[in-house]
Amino acid sequence: MSEPESSPSQSGRPRVVVTRRLPEPVEARMRELFDVELSADDRQMSREDLVAAMQRTDVLVPTLTDHIDQAMLAQAGDRLKLIANFGAGFDHLDIETARRRGILVTNTPGVLAEDTADMTMALILAVPRRLQEGVALMQEGKWQGWSPTSIMGHRIWGKRLGILGMGRIGQAVARRAKAFGLEIHYHNRRRLHESTEAQLGARYWESLDQMLARMDIVSVNCPHTPGTYHLLSARRLKLLKPSAYIVNTARGEVIDENALTRMLVNGDLAGAGLDVFEQEPAVNPRLLGLPNVVLLPHMGSATEEGRADMGEKVILNIKTFADGHRPPDQVLPSML
Ligand code: DGY
Repeated sequence: MSEPESSPSQSGRPRVVVTRRLPEPVEARMRELFDVELSADDRQMSREDLVAAMQRTDVLVPTLTDHIDQAMLAQAGDRLKLIANFGAGFDHLDIETARRRGILVTNTPGVLAEDTADMTMALILAVPRRLQEGVALMQEGKWQGWSPTSIMGHRIWGKRLGILGMGRIGQAVARRAKAFGLEIHYHNRRRLHESTEAQLGARYWESLDQMLARMDIVSVNCPHTPGTYHLLSARRLKLLKPSAYIVNTARGEVIDENALTRMLVNGDLAGAGLDVFEQEPAVNPRLLGLPNVVLLPHMGSATEEGRADMGEKVILNIKTFADGHRPPDQVLPSML
Protein backbone atom coordinates (compact mmCIF):
# COMPACT_ATOMS: atom_id res chain seq x y z
CA MET A 1 0.00 0.00 0.00
CA SER A 2 1.18 3.50 -0.69
CA GLU A 3 1.32 6.16 2.02
CA PRO A 4 -1.67 8.46 2.50
CA GLU A 5 -1.27 11.78 0.74
CA SER A 6 -2.29 13.88 3.77
CA SER A 7 -4.26 13.62 6.99
CA PRO A 8 -7.97 14.58 7.03
CA SER A 9 -7.28 17.39 9.47
CA GLN A 10 -4.91 18.98 6.95
CA SER A 11 -7.21 18.73 3.96
CA GLY A 12 -10.71 18.47 5.43
CA ARG A 13 -11.32 15.64 3.00
CA PRO A 14 -12.15 12.12 4.15
CA ARG A 15 -9.30 9.68 4.27
CA VAL A 16 -10.16 6.65 2.15
CA VAL A 17 -8.30 3.34 1.92
CA VAL A 18 -8.97 1.21 -1.17
CA THR A 19 -7.96 -2.42 -0.76
CA ARG A 20 -7.55 -3.43 -4.43
CA ARG A 21 -6.59 -1.79 -7.70
CA LEU A 22 -9.57 -0.10 -9.36
CA PRO A 23 -9.84 1.08 -12.97
CA GLU A 24 -7.58 4.09 -13.60
CA PRO A 25 -10.37 6.69 -14.17
CA VAL A 26 -12.00 5.64 -10.88
CA GLU A 27 -8.72 5.98 -9.01
CA ALA A 28 -8.04 9.36 -10.67
CA ARG A 29 -11.42 10.70 -9.57
CA MET A 30 -10.86 9.39 -6.06
CA ARG A 31 -7.50 11.21 -5.93
CA GLU A 32 -9.29 14.45 -6.87
CA LEU A 33 -11.98 14.08 -4.21
CA PHE A 34 -10.45 12.28 -1.26
CA ASP A 35 -7.22 11.75 0.63
CA VAL A 36 -6.98 8.34 -0.82
CA GLU A 37 -4.60 5.49 -0.20
CA LEU A 38 -4.69 3.28 -3.27
CA SER A 39 -3.48 -0.27 -3.69
CA ALA A 40 -0.14 -0.15 -5.49
CA ASP A 41 0.10 -3.85 -6.26
CA ASP A 42 -3.50 -5.16 -6.21
CA ARG A 43 -2.49 -7.84 -3.74
CA GLN A 44 -5.21 -9.14 -1.43
CA MET A 45 -4.69 -7.53 2.00
CA SER A 46 -4.04 -9.80 4.95
CA ARG A 47 -6.36 -9.80 7.94
CA GLU A 48 -3.80 -7.75 9.89
CA ASP A 49 -3.43 -5.21 7.09
CA LEU A 50 -7.19 -4.82 6.85
CA VAL A 51 -7.45 -4.19 10.59
CA ALA A 52 -4.60 -1.69 10.39
CA ALA A 53 -6.37 0.06 7.52
CA MET A 54 -9.61 0.20 9.53
CA GLN A 55 -7.66 1.88 12.33
CA ARG A 56 -6.23 4.71 10.24
CA THR A 57 -9.03 5.63 7.85
CA ASP A 58 -12.47 7.26 7.76
CA VAL A 59 -13.69 5.16 4.85
CA LEU A 60 -12.67 1.69 3.74
CA VAL A 61 -13.34 0.54 0.17
CA PRO A 62 -13.11 -3.25 0.20
CA THR A 63 -14.09 -5.81 -2.42
CA LEU A 64 -15.53 -9.30 -2.20
CA THR A 65 -12.07 -10.73 -1.52
CA ASP A 66 -11.84 -8.88 1.81
CA HIS A 67 -13.58 -10.85 4.54
CA ILE A 68 -14.33 -8.51 7.43
CA ASP A 69 -15.74 -10.23 10.49
CA GLN A 70 -16.83 -9.29 13.99
CA ALA A 71 -13.36 -9.66 15.55
CA MET A 72 -11.84 -7.38 12.93
CA LEU A 73 -14.56 -4.76 13.27
CA ALA A 74 -14.02 -4.80 17.05
CA GLN A 75 -10.49 -3.50 16.39
CA ALA A 76 -11.55 -0.76 13.94
CA GLY A 77 -10.61 2.78 14.87
CA ASP A 78 -13.25 5.22 16.09
CA ARG A 79 -12.75 7.27 12.95
CA LEU A 80 -13.95 4.47 10.65
CA LYS A 81 -17.46 5.56 9.73
CA LEU A 82 -18.12 4.04 6.31
CA ILE A 83 -17.36 0.80 4.50
CA ALA A 84 -18.11 1.58 0.86
CA ASN A 85 -17.93 -1.83 -0.79
CA PHE A 86 -16.84 -2.02 -4.44
CA GLY A 87 -19.38 -4.66 -5.47
CA ALA A 88 -23.01 -5.60 -5.06
CA GLY A 89 -22.65 -8.70 -2.88
CA PHE A 90 -21.91 -8.02 0.79
CA ASP A 91 -21.75 -11.53 2.25
CA HIS A 92 -18.06 -10.99 3.08
CA LEU A 93 -18.93 -8.18 5.51
CA ASP A 94 -20.46 -8.48 8.96
CA ILE A 95 -23.23 -5.94 8.42
CA GLU A 96 -24.84 -6.45 11.82
CA THR A 97 -21.64 -5.81 13.79
CA ALA A 98 -20.86 -2.79 11.61
CA ARG A 99 -24.31 -1.38 12.36
CA ARG A 100 -23.85 -1.90 16.09
CA ARG A 101 -20.54 -0.06 15.93
CA GLY A 102 -22.10 2.83 14.02
CA ILE A 103 -20.28 2.05 10.77
CA LEU A 104 -22.37 2.49 7.64
CA VAL A 105 -22.00 -0.04 4.85
CA THR A 106 -22.83 0.64 1.20
CA ASN A 107 -22.62 -1.45 -1.98
CA THR A 108 -23.00 -0.98 -5.74
CA PRO A 109 -26.35 -2.52 -6.73
CA GLY A 110 -27.96 -2.33 -10.14
CA VAL A 111 -25.02 -1.42 -12.33
CA LEU A 112 -23.82 -4.99 -12.81
CA ALA A 113 -27.17 -6.68 -13.44
CA GLU A 114 -27.06 -6.55 -17.25
CA ASP A 115 -23.45 -7.76 -17.51
CA THR A 116 -24.05 -10.59 -15.07
CA ALA A 117 -27.22 -11.57 -16.93
CA ASP A 118 -25.23 -11.65 -20.19
CA MET A 119 -22.71 -14.01 -18.61
CA THR A 120 -25.52 -16.17 -17.25
CA MET A 121 -26.98 -16.42 -20.75
CA ALA A 122 -23.53 -17.22 -22.14
CA LEU A 123 -23.33 -20.20 -19.75
CA ILE A 124 -26.94 -21.24 -20.45
CA LEU A 125 -25.92 -21.48 -24.10
CA ALA A 126 -22.37 -22.75 -23.67
CA VAL A 127 -23.07 -25.84 -21.59
CA PRO A 128 -25.98 -27.51 -23.44
CA ARG A 129 -24.44 -26.59 -26.82
CA ARG A 130 -21.01 -27.97 -25.82
CA LEU A 131 -19.12 -24.80 -26.73
CA GLN A 132 -16.09 -25.69 -24.65
CA GLU A 133 -15.67 -29.05 -26.40
CA GLY A 134 -16.00 -27.38 -29.81
CA VAL A 135 -13.39 -24.76 -28.97
CA ALA A 136 -11.01 -27.45 -27.66
CA LEU A 137 -11.43 -29.50 -30.85
CA MET A 138 -10.45 -26.51 -32.98
CA GLN A 139 -7.62 -25.32 -30.74
CA GLU A 140 -6.10 -28.80 -30.62
CA GLY A 141 -6.32 -29.05 -34.44
CA LYS A 142 -8.37 -32.25 -34.15
CA TRP A 143 -11.40 -31.29 -36.23
CA GLN A 144 -11.96 -33.83 -39.01
CA GLY A 145 -14.75 -31.87 -40.73
CA TRP A 146 -18.52 -31.72 -40.44
CA SER A 147 -20.43 -34.86 -39.58
CA PRO A 148 -24.14 -35.36 -38.88
CA THR A 149 -23.49 -36.91 -35.49
CA SER A 150 -20.52 -35.05 -34.13
CA ILE A 151 -20.65 -32.79 -31.07
CA MET A 152 -24.43 -32.79 -30.74
CA GLY A 153 -25.68 -30.72 -27.86
CA HIS A 154 -29.19 -29.95 -26.69
CA ARG A 155 -31.61 -27.30 -27.92
CA ILE A 156 -32.47 -24.65 -25.36
CA TRP A 157 -35.46 -23.21 -27.23
CA GLY A 158 -38.70 -24.41 -25.63
CA LYS A 159 -36.94 -25.71 -22.51
CA ARG A 160 -37.88 -24.75 -18.95
CA LEU A 161 -35.57 -22.36 -17.15
CA GLY A 162 -35.93 -22.11 -13.38
CA ILE A 163 -34.48 -18.89 -11.97
CA LEU A 164 -33.59 -19.02 -8.31
CA GLY A 165 -33.68 -15.42 -7.10
CA MET A 166 -35.75 -12.96 -9.13
CA GLY A 167 -34.11 -9.66 -8.20
CA ARG A 168 -32.52 -7.31 -10.73
CA ILE A 169 -30.17 -9.94 -12.14
CA GLY A 170 -32.76 -12.72 -12.19
CA GLN A 171 -35.17 -10.46 -14.08
CA ALA A 172 -32.47 -9.42 -16.55
CA VAL A 173 -31.80 -13.14 -17.16
CA ALA A 174 -35.53 -13.75 -17.63
CA ARG A 175 -35.81 -11.00 -20.28
CA ARG A 176 -32.93 -12.50 -22.26
CA ALA A 177 -34.05 -16.09 -21.82
CA LYS A 178 -37.56 -15.26 -23.00
CA ALA A 179 -36.09 -13.95 -26.25
CA PHE A 180 -34.27 -17.28 -26.65
CA GLY A 181 -37.59 -19.12 -26.41
CA LEU A 182 -37.12 -20.54 -22.93
CA GLU A 183 -40.12 -20.97 -20.62
CA ILE A 184 -39.47 -18.84 -17.55
CA HIS A 185 -40.11 -20.19 -14.05
CA TYR A 186 -38.86 -18.72 -10.81
CA HIS A 187 -38.60 -19.11 -7.07
CA ASN A 188 -38.03 -16.06 -4.90
CA ARG A 189 -38.52 -15.05 -1.29
CA ARG A 190 -41.26 -12.73 -2.44
CA ARG A 191 -43.51 -13.21 -5.42
CA LEU A 192 -43.19 -10.48 -8.09
CA HIS A 193 -46.04 -8.12 -8.87
CA GLU A 194 -48.36 -9.77 -11.35
CA SER A 195 -47.68 -7.12 -14.00
CA THR A 196 -43.92 -7.89 -13.81
CA GLU A 197 -44.67 -11.61 -13.99
CA ALA A 198 -46.83 -10.98 -17.05
CA GLN A 199 -44.14 -8.85 -18.72
CA LEU A 200 -41.52 -11.52 -18.17
CA GLY A 201 -43.93 -14.36 -18.89
CA ALA A 202 -42.66 -15.89 -15.65
CA ARG A 203 -44.41 -18.53 -13.53
CA TYR A 204 -43.87 -18.40 -9.77
CA TRP A 205 -43.16 -21.52 -7.72
CA GLU A 206 -43.65 -21.15 -4.01
CA SER A 207 -42.05 -24.55 -3.52
CA LEU A 208 -38.43 -24.61 -4.64
CA ASP A 209 -38.46 -28.42 -4.46
CA GLN A 210 -41.35 -28.66 -6.87
CA MET A 211 -39.79 -26.21 -9.28
CA LEU A 212 -36.41 -27.97 -9.30
CA ALA A 213 -37.96 -31.33 -10.15
CA ARG A 214 -39.49 -29.91 -13.33
CA MET A 215 -36.74 -27.71 -14.79
CA ASP A 216 -34.36 -28.35 -17.71
CA ILE A 217 -31.99 -25.56 -16.70
CA VAL A 218 -31.63 -23.93 -13.28
CA SER A 219 -29.94 -20.55 -12.91
CA VAL A 220 -28.82 -19.35 -9.49
CA ASN A 221 -29.23 -15.58 -9.20
CA CYS A 222 -29.89 -14.98 -5.51
CA PRO A 223 -27.45 -13.44 -3.04
CA HIS A 224 -25.61 -15.51 -0.46
CA THR A 225 -27.21 -14.90 2.93
CA PRO A 226 -27.60 -17.10 6.01
CA GLY A 227 -30.93 -18.15 4.48
CA THR A 228 -29.52 -19.16 1.07
CA TYR A 229 -26.37 -20.97 2.24
CA HIS A 230 -26.52 -24.42 0.53
CA LEU A 231 -30.05 -23.69 -0.63
CA LEU A 232 -29.20 -26.18 -3.35
CA SER A 233 -28.24 -28.88 -0.86
CA ALA A 234 -27.40 -32.49 -1.72
CA ARG A 235 -31.05 -33.38 -1.13
CA ARG A 236 -32.37 -30.64 -3.40
CA LEU A 237 -29.83 -31.31 -6.16
CA LYS A 238 -31.11 -34.88 -6.29
CA LEU A 239 -34.56 -33.53 -7.17
CA LEU A 240 -33.20 -32.29 -10.52
CA LYS A 241 -33.74 -34.39 -13.62
CA PRO A 242 -30.56 -36.20 -14.75
CA SER A 243 -30.93 -34.27 -18.03
CA ALA A 244 -30.89 -30.89 -16.24
CA TYR A 245 -28.19 -28.24 -16.38
CA ILE A 246 -27.26 -25.86 -13.61
CA VAL A 247 -25.73 -22.40 -13.96
CA ASN A 248 -24.40 -20.25 -11.11
CA THR A 249 -23.24 -16.66 -11.54
CA ALA A 250 -24.29 -15.56 -8.02
CA ARG A 251 -22.30 -17.04 -5.14
CA GLY A 252 -20.72 -20.46 -4.76
CA GLU A 253 -22.07 -20.88 -1.24
CA VAL A 254 -25.65 -21.18 -2.52
CA ILE A 255 -24.83 -24.66 -3.90
CA ASP A 256 -23.30 -27.55 -1.99
CA GLU A 257 -20.30 -27.71 -4.34
CA ASN A 258 -19.15 -31.15 -3.17
CA ALA A 259 -22.58 -32.65 -3.73
CA LEU A 260 -22.83 -30.98 -7.14
CA THR A 261 -19.38 -32.25 -8.11
CA ARG A 262 -20.29 -35.82 -7.09
CA MET A 263 -23.41 -35.69 -9.23
CA LEU A 264 -21.55 -34.31 -12.24
CA VAL A 265 -18.78 -36.90 -11.91
CA ASN A 266 -21.35 -39.71 -11.61
CA GLY A 267 -23.38 -38.46 -14.57
CA ASP A 268 -26.45 -37.67 -12.42
CA LEU A 269 -26.72 -34.21 -14.02
CA ALA A 270 -26.21 -33.20 -17.66
CA GLY A 271 -23.79 -30.36 -16.99
CA ALA A 272 -23.00 -27.12 -15.19
CA GLY A 273 -21.76 -23.62 -15.90
CA LEU A 274 -20.10 -22.10 -12.85
CA ASP A 275 -18.68 -18.61 -12.52
CA VAL A 276 -18.51 -18.72 -8.72
CA PHE A 277 -17.26 -21.23 -6.15
CA GLU A 278 -17.58 -21.96 -2.45
CA GLN A 279 -13.91 -21.41 -1.56
CA GLU A 280 -12.70 -18.93 -4.19
CA PRO A 281 -10.17 -18.98 -5.73
CA ALA A 282 -10.04 -22.72 -4.92
CA VAL A 283 -12.11 -24.92 -7.18
CA ASN A 284 -12.97 -28.53 -6.44
CA PRO A 285 -10.28 -30.30 -8.51
CA ARG A 286 -12.73 -32.96 -9.62
CA LEU A 287 -14.65 -30.28 -11.52
CA LEU A 288 -11.63 -29.45 -13.64
CA GLY A 289 -11.50 -31.35 -16.89
CA LEU A 290 -15.14 -32.48 -16.92
CA PRO A 291 -16.22 -31.93 -20.53
CA ASN A 292 -19.80 -30.97 -19.59
CA VAL A 293 -18.74 -28.30 -17.09
CA VAL A 294 -17.77 -24.75 -18.03
CA LEU A 295 -15.83 -22.99 -15.29
CA LEU A 296 -15.17 -19.25 -15.25
CA PRO A 297 -13.10 -17.16 -12.82
CA HIS A 298 -15.89 -15.06 -11.24
CA MET A 299 -16.07 -12.73 -14.22
CA GLY A 300 -19.83 -12.20 -14.50
CA SER A 301 -19.64 -8.44 -14.02
CA ALA A 302 -16.15 -7.95 -15.43
CA THR A 303 -16.70 -5.36 -18.15
CA GLU A 304 -14.87 -2.04 -18.36
CA GLU A 305 -18.20 -0.24 -18.41
CA GLY A 306 -19.51 -2.14 -15.40
CA ARG A 307 -16.40 -1.59 -13.31
CA ALA A 308 -16.48 2.15 -14.13
CA ASP A 309 -20.13 2.31 -13.05
CA MET A 310 -19.30 0.46 -9.84
CA GLY A 311 -16.53 2.97 -9.16
CA GLU A 312 -18.90 5.87 -9.72
CA LYS A 313 -21.34 4.36 -7.24
CA VAL A 314 -18.62 3.95 -4.63
CA ILE A 315 -17.55 7.56 -5.12
CA LEU A 316 -21.13 8.83 -4.89
CA ASN A 317 -21.71 6.87 -1.70
CA ILE A 318 -18.56 8.30 -0.09
CA LYS A 319 -19.17 11.83 -1.31
CA THR A 320 -22.81 11.87 -0.16
CA PHE A 321 -21.78 10.52 3.23
CA ALA A 322 -18.91 12.99 3.58
CA ASP A 323 -21.34 15.83 2.75
CA GLY A 324 -23.45 14.77 5.73
CA HIS A 325 -26.22 12.90 3.92
CA ARG A 326 -27.38 9.31 3.86
CA PRO A 327 -25.53 7.50 1.06
CA PRO A 328 -27.83 6.15 -1.66
CA ASP A 329 -26.78 2.51 -1.44
CA GLN A 330 -26.80 1.82 2.27
CA VAL A 331 -26.91 -1.86 3.15
CA LEU A 332 -28.99 -2.87 6.19
CA PRO A 333 -29.06 -6.10 8.19
CA SER A 334 -32.75 -6.42 7.23
CA MET A 335 -31.59 -7.04 3.64
CA LEU A 336 -30.01 -10.33 4.66
C1 DGY B 1 -20.40 -8.48 -6.85
O1 DGY B 1 -20.33 -7.27 -7.07
O2 DGY B 1 -20.80 -8.92 -5.80
C2 DGY B 1 -20.01 -9.39 -7.95
O3 DGY B 1 -20.03 -10.72 -7.54
C3 DGY B 1 -18.67 -9.03 -8.52
O4 DGY B 1 -18.58 -9.70 -9.73
